[in-house]
This record gives sequence, C-alpha cells and structure tokens, in this order.
Amino acid sequence: MSTPGFAPLSDRAPGSDTRLAPRARLRTDAPVLSLNGDWDFRLHPADPADRDTDGRPDFATPGADLTGWASIPVPAHWVLTEATERYSRPIYTNIQYPFPLDPPHVPDANPTGDYRRMFTVPAEFVAGDTRVRLRFDGVESRADVWLNGHPVGWFTGSRLTTEFDVTDLLVEGDNLLAVRVHQWSAASYLEDQDQWWLPGIFRDVTLLARPAAGLDNVTVIGDLDPASGHGELRVDAVGSFPITVRIPELGVEETWAGPADVAPIAVGPVDAWTSETPRLYDVQVAAPGEIATLRTGFRRVEIVGDRFLVNGRPLTFRGVNRHETHPDLGRVFDEAHVRRDLELMKRHNVNALRTSHQPPHWRTLELCDELGLWVVLECDLETHGFWEVDWRDNPADDPQWREALLDRISRTVERDVNHPSIVLWSLGNESGTGRNLAEMAAWVHDRDPSRPVHYEGDYDGSYTDVYSRMYPTLEEISSICGEQTMAVHEIGPAAGARQRSRPFVMCEYAHAMGNGPGSLADYEEAIDTFDRSHGGFIWEWRDHGLRTHTPDGTEFFAYGGDFGEVVHDGIFIMDGLVLSDDTPSPALAELAAVWAPVRFALDGDRLTVTNRRGFRALDDLTVGWTLESDGRTVDSGELVLPDVAPGTSVTLPLPAGALAVESGERFLTFTAASTEDESWASAGHVVARQQFPVAGSRVPVPSRRSAAGSFADAEFDRAGSLVSWRGLPVAGPLVELWRAPTENDRLDGQGSYETAYPGLTHGRGDESTPASADRWRERGLHRLTHRTLSVERSGDAVVRRVRTMAANAAVGVDSILTWTRRDDGLHLRAVVVPFGTWDCTWPRLGLRFDLPASLAAEPVSWFGTGPDESYADSASAAVVGRFTAGLDELTVRYARPQESGHRPGLRELDWGPLHLATVPLQGHRPGFSLSRWTPQELSVAGHHHELPDSDRVVLMVDHAQHGLGSRACGPDVLPRYALWPQATDLEIVLR
Ligand code: GAL
Repeated sequence: MSTPGFAPLSDRAPGSDTRLAPRARLRTDAPVLSLNGDWDFRLHPADPADRDTDGRPDFATPGADLTGWASIPVPAHWVLTEATERYSRPIYTNIQYPFPLDPPHVPDANPTGDYRRMFTVPAEFVAGDTRVRLRFDGVESRADVWLNGHPVGWFTGSRLTTEFDVTDLLVEGDNLLAVRVHQWSAASYLEDQDQWWLPGIFRDVTLLARPAAGLDNVTVIGDLDPASGHGELRVDAVGSFPITVRIPELGVEETWAGPADVAPIAVGPVDAWTSETPRLYDVQVAAPGEIATLRTGFRRVEIVGDRFLVNGRPLTFRGVNRHETHPDLGRVFDEAHVRRDLELMKRHNVNALRTSHQPPHWRTLELCDELGLWVVLECDLETHGFWEVDWRDNPADDPQWREALLDRISRTVERDVNHPSIVLWSLGNESGTGRNLAEMAAWVHDRDPSRPVHYEGDYDGSYTDVYSRMYPTLEEISSICGEQTMAVHEIGPAAGARQRSRPFVMCEYAHAMGNGPGSLADYEEAIDTFDRSHGGFIWEWRDHGLRTHTPDGTEFFAYGGDFGEVVHDGIFIMDGLVLSDDTPSPALAELAAVWAPVRFALDGDRLTVTNRRGFRALDDLTVGWTLESDGRTVDSGELVLPDVAPGTSVTLPLPAGALAVESGERFLTFTAASTEDESWASAGHVVARQQFPVAGSRVPVPSRRSAAGSFADAEFDRAGSLVSWRGLPVAGPLVELWRAPTENDRLDGQGSYETAYPGLTHGRGDESTPASADRWRERGLHRLTHRTLSVERSGDAVVRRVRTMAANAAVGVDSILTWTRRDDGLHLRAVVVPFGTWDCTWPRLGLRFDLPASLAAEPVSWFGTGPDESYADSASAAVVGRFTAGLDELTVRYARPQESGHRPGLRELDWGPLHLATVPLQGHRPGFSLSRWTPQELSVAGHHHELPDSDRVVLMVDHAQHGLGSRACGPDVLPRYALWPQATDLEIVLR
C-alpha cells in the first residue's frame, strides 16, 4: 500500500532519504540510551489498511487505543516469542522463496507487527547543540518508524544498521516510538539465504546523543610492513578538529588541527595481529567533545600472484561457515552463547569464519579480534530463488536494484571496517552474477583497498580477487591448483586461465549434515599439496534447529516443515558441526584432528614434529608421549622441543622408554598441549594427538583349544540361533547389510561413484544418479529375509548355514555361522559370501544380536577405537584405547535418527554380564555399535521422539561399514572408502 513518506512495500529503494550515511560502529564516551526491553505489540496477519492521509497508522500517535495488544521483548523475533502460537511461525527455505516469484511484489497476506514504546529522554540528550540519533541494528524485513506521531523514515536491510537523526522530533520527558514491521517487502527478494525467515526487531534499538564537537565517524586500519615489522596506523576521522590519536602502549600521540593534517602515523615496531597471535592495541581518537576507544591490530593483507598473504606469509583458512542461530532466540545475539561457540571453534583448531550469509551482530567481530579468528565478512545479499527461472530479472543484474545493492555493501563495510580480523569482504552469496555485483566490488575496492573482495558467483573472476568455489571434488582442486585435467567450472578457457592465476579458496566444502562429512583428511591433504590453495570453510558451524515441543510436551528441535510451512526445505537446515542443543558432533573432533597445528611422524625411534601454523612457533606447546600396552599406560614422558618456526619440522630421537619392549599390543601416542592459559582454553589443552602402532607388538592369539564339556552355558533354538548365554538372553546373529541412511546416503548433491560418475566435473546437482539409500532400498537391503539352509550340531560345535535375500531379488549372501566352545569362551566364526550379480555398494556387513533392555543402565566399557564413532573416511580423531560410556552416549542424536555409533577395531567389550572379544583375521577386527533401535526403526523416524518404545538393545558387530562422504551437498564416498560386496569372515568370542 502506498502512503506519503512511506514508499510502498514493492519499492526497490533501500529506505527513505532520511536515513543517515552509514558509519563505523564506535565505542565513545557519548551518552547512549538503550530502547531494548518490553514493547507493546500486536500482529496483523496481513498488511492493515489503517493509515490516515499522512500515511500514519493509528497506533503511532500518543493516546492510541491499545486494547488487544500484547507485550513483546525487543530484541526478539515475533515468531519465537512465548506467545508464538498466537503469532505467525518460522519458515525454513533454502533456495525457493516462500512467496510468489513476482518481483518486487509480495502477497497481501504479509504478517505485520506493530511495535510501540514510551521512553523518557535523559536531560543530557536535549541539552545545547547535542543532536540525537535513533539506531536500529536489525529488523526483518522492513520497518516504518514514527516518533511522537511524526514520520521518521523507513528502511530495509534486515541484518544491517540504520540510523536517523531524530533531534527535531524529540520532546523533553516522555516520547513515543512506534515501528511497523512488515515480514515481507521488496527487500525480501534480496534476503533468500538458506536459513529460517524470522521477522521482527531482533537486534538492539538505541538512542545516541551526538555531542557538539564530537566524532561522526572514525576509520582505523593498522598496517604492518612485514619486512621491517613496523606498523602504520591509518586513521580517517569525520568530526570536529583538533583531533588527537593516541596509542598509549606505543607512546603514540598525534594531534591534527584540521582535515588537511590527517596522515598515516608511523608507530614503529609492533606485534603482528594474526589468528594465532591476536595482539590488539588500544587506540584513542579524541575530538574536543567526544573520545572514541578502539582496539586495533596490525597486519597486511595482500594478493601477490596466486598467493593470499597476510604479513608476507601465505594464509590457510581452516574455517567454518557461521550463521547466527540459537535454538531459542533465532538470530538474536546472546553474547555468552556466541563466545562459547567461538571458543569451541578455537579449541577445535578452527582459525577462520565466514559470516554466512550476512553481517553478524557487531560484537561478534570484536570477539573474533580478541580470540583470533580470520573473518570473511559477507554482505546481507542472496537472490538464489531467481535460479529457478534461469536468473531472469535477477536483482544482481537489474539496474532497478542497483541502489539497494550498493546501499547494502556500503552499510556492511562501513560498520565493520575497523576490525583487524576481517581479511576479505564478500559481496553476498548465490545471487547469480551481474553488473550490480560488479559495481559493489568496485565500490569496495575504492573504499577499502586494504582488503580483497570475494564472491563465489563471479565464476569468471571479472570483478573479484580470489577464485572461490563451493563443494569442488578433490579432482577439481587438483585440476585448478595443479596440472589442469578438466575444464574450469562453467567458464571458457580465457576466464579459466584468469581464475587459475588467482589464490584459490573454498567458501564452502565438506557438508556437515548428519553423520559426516567424510574425507576431511583428504581435503586437507589437497589443500596442503598446492601453494595456490588457501583452504576453505566447512559448511557449516551449527544446526539451525529451533527448540519446540510436541503436543504432549516432548522437547525437540524443529526443522523445515515442523511449523506447517506451505513450502519448505525440510532437514537441509540441519547441517552443522554442532547440534542444535550445543553438542559438538564427532565431526568436530575429526576436524580438530585434521586441522591440528602440529603433526607427528614416527620413523623407527625418531619422531618428526611439524609446525603447521602460519605465524607462530611452538614455544607455547609441550609434546608428550604415552606408551600403552593393551590399552593400559606403561610409560609416558615429555619431549623437549627446539625452536620450530612456522611451516618447518624437527626430528628428534625418542627416549628409550618410549619403545621399551613389553608384551601386548602397543601404541605410542603423542600429544601437543598448551603450557599457558589462553582466553579460549586453559593450560593443558591438547591441540594435537596422534597414535602409532609400535612395530613388533604381539597381539594375543585366542585359544584354539576345545573346552572340555559342552555348550552347557549356551542355549540355541532349533534353527541354530543363540538364545541365551550364561543365563543372559542373547538372540542372534542375523546377517545385516542395512544401516539407517545418513543424510549423505539419502541425498544426491553430486554424482555417484557407484554409477557413471558423470556429475563430478561440475561439482553440483547431478540428480541422474540415485542417492545411495535409494539404490540400496531398490535392492531391498532394508528388508532382508533369512532362510536356514542347515543346522549341524556336534559335541563342540553348532554350524548353521543361512541364505539371506530380499523379496524379489535374485542376489544375496550365504553365511556359515559356526559356534564352538573353547577354553576362553564361546567362539562364533561367521563366513559370509555374496552370490549373484550385485550392482551396488553395501551400507554395512554385520551381525545383529538382540540383548535385553535390562542391560541399558549398565556402563559400556570397551577396548578398541574411540572415544567417538568413526568410519573409513572419518577416522583421524579415533585412537585405540579403553573407554567407558553410557549406552545412550554411544550414539549421536543427529537431527534425524540415522546411522551412528560405529566403532571399528573392537578388541573387547564388557557390558554388565556380557564379555565379548574379537579375533583378528588377516589383521582386521570387526567394530561394534549399540542402540536401542534396529537400523530399520531408525530409518523411518523423522525425529527422535518419533521412534517407537524400545524393548531391547541391538548390538551390531560389523565387519565394515560404507564410508560417509559428503553427498548431501558434495561428492560421494570415495571408491577407496566404499564397502563393495565381498566375501569375508569375522570371529568373536563370548566369555
Ligand atoms: C550452498 C549455500 C549454503 C547452503 C549450502 C547447503 O549452496 O551457499 O547457503 O545452502 O549450499 O547446505
């Protein structure tokens, strides 16, 4: 609806002309008044036609009737407030728009929130020449604002800051601020990020007193000359002169009488800011009426040829994509929660984050400066839904949207320009390409030459500075960074050559959805192999699940569809390294191992220690070793490290004790641990751990001697299946090939290695090859039937032959299950042989046993790999040792029930009265998992609370499992980690 002063919702302009020019977020001594708190609120399901001839709705005037209004906290999303059920609900979409693609229009059914609050202006705000600004840090998606009944202006740009000068509208004493927030507006077409749509005033609202003779804006960039180690402070100040700049710690004090005096300040030798050494210096910028205090760091970002350098050294991003998401608050900032997340990143060797796909709360960046994280700061822009119509009318290329896009990038850069942690500006995400993006890039190049520009969608590299890709295969990385073996993604040879001359960065890779991703170590190896490759950012940091409840009060974390959305993208929003309830997934431990800043290599009695850091020696770490025999420590010590400069190695002799001859299976484990407290971890924090088998270990051989006597303690049924062991009901085994599909098994982001493998050169979206789980299901692997072929019993053996096949299938596996009674217990040898023409991989090859639910309360102890689950392509964090856990701690509550808990290489399992050991055959031992549900039950539940009541515990003893891969949005399991149909045998002992 069109109203004077307030453009219609379909207006492509970013806001009214009354908005002030964007500027840096500053901490100054000028007074501020927070307008956060409880506001009056009402929600209209559609844009109400209640404005008067001046465009003013009734509630904007003092004395309006507030009957029927509720109260709402600011900041909050109205769909996530306590009264959620009374209001509209969250919507999750990835690419598609939840409204018709009819730009720039939005439907009439446009949830509209009216907000209102009174506030009293402190006297200092209305004194003398003081001016007053009203600032909004984030409102989704459009706000119209009135003060004391007078129009202030309107704005869009949900995750961007807006300021108005309201001096002339304020009155002494009580004032009325009224804001109408529309969930949808033309700007919604620019905000199609893969996240929840969460309307409301979700960041701070503040009144700022602007003293006469104050500072309107201050830009401070600390440069470092890597050759001399000397710093230079580049300050740009808009305000009243004289202006004095001070860095007390460096003895710097410089006063400028007027703008003509402003010049870079040489500050002499300084400590560099890096993610490994986040050294900050306090800087004061003082005008006669206002003092700003900043914390700056000195570093130089440069692109030299195809290298991305910081302080003259190549930078490797070991980063994560980070959305702002909180299980209860959505995108509302919770400092303690954010700090915990950033500290968790640091403790897992993450050194960078991309603010996908919008600027975060400003304070997040101060935390990155302080904790040490390189930041790719991304603008609030995504128009992915236009992909559905081949980018027709895409705002990124339509001059009608030019102003809106330039407005977005200037608000992004101006707010955060002072952060030393930011090393790349990103124009946005998945918005196709076009002239408006090119103009945004040109604007950034001009405004801030100290940092390069990133945008993945600039495929041919015509306006950005690094070659960025998402989800490339390993083959593509080699071809981009090494010898060219395939065409460059979607571009011709000339543009391809340009891109191949640039630093290469993966803005997204390794899709951490559900159990996975696999192949993190393979990607790391590729990154390490090529100088041009500067690492990348895992997709993504957290699951975005929203805490909610079933009608009977069971808590769960909602994903797309759980709020009854008309269109949605289901579980694709649950693809994080950290689960919605803040639990780190095993993938995070895997990542920490793969990204460890220290690598060990053992060659006989010599240990090579490599410093994989970019900027810091290892003098803050101590290297320890532990020798274990059969999982028990027999000796340990520390090694004295000489200086190990970044990127170099040393080789040390091992102390004699480390290799002392002992009986049993021996492992040497090396750790690197911090000697001092860091702000993100206390002393003793282990940054690297690697384990090596000790050559010459003697693995105990199980008894081959038949026991006298019989099967008195084992009971079998007529079909030769075990029914009980020493009075404990144990049913099984059943041969099982099925696992509850992981998200990577279910989806088909890229082509499959199982079939023609055609999608892999182009990286994404080849749906012609079915997802693994579909293929497995077509072949009936989830519904195997068993037919006993024969049962032979003798004095010391029970031999059962079984044929396992699916309905309507002509292929299957034959197994011979032989039970024998020996000195050390009841042995089971299982020989499994496939027959027929198999044409798919197997999810697993295992034996299932059902155990009584009464065992569930007993702690589970095992000697084998741990502490977490691991799979063929995700095993860097696993070590062999002795572990104990509760039953439910053995599996991970991924957003949707799926395969979890596989721990290969089991030696012994002790669980209540059950003692099970494995026998190595050709050096291989099976793994185990324990769950209250069968793989089939886990396969069909969308959420954990949908699982049936369980009356047993399922023990799976797996010869092997298929790898994990990353195919939910990336490459399939690599052939070397795939489980191909095979004949095999395994042996276990019940003791
Ligand atoms: C990328 C996109 C992300 C996310 C991811 C899949 O294409 O940039 O926002 O959607 O795919 O989870």
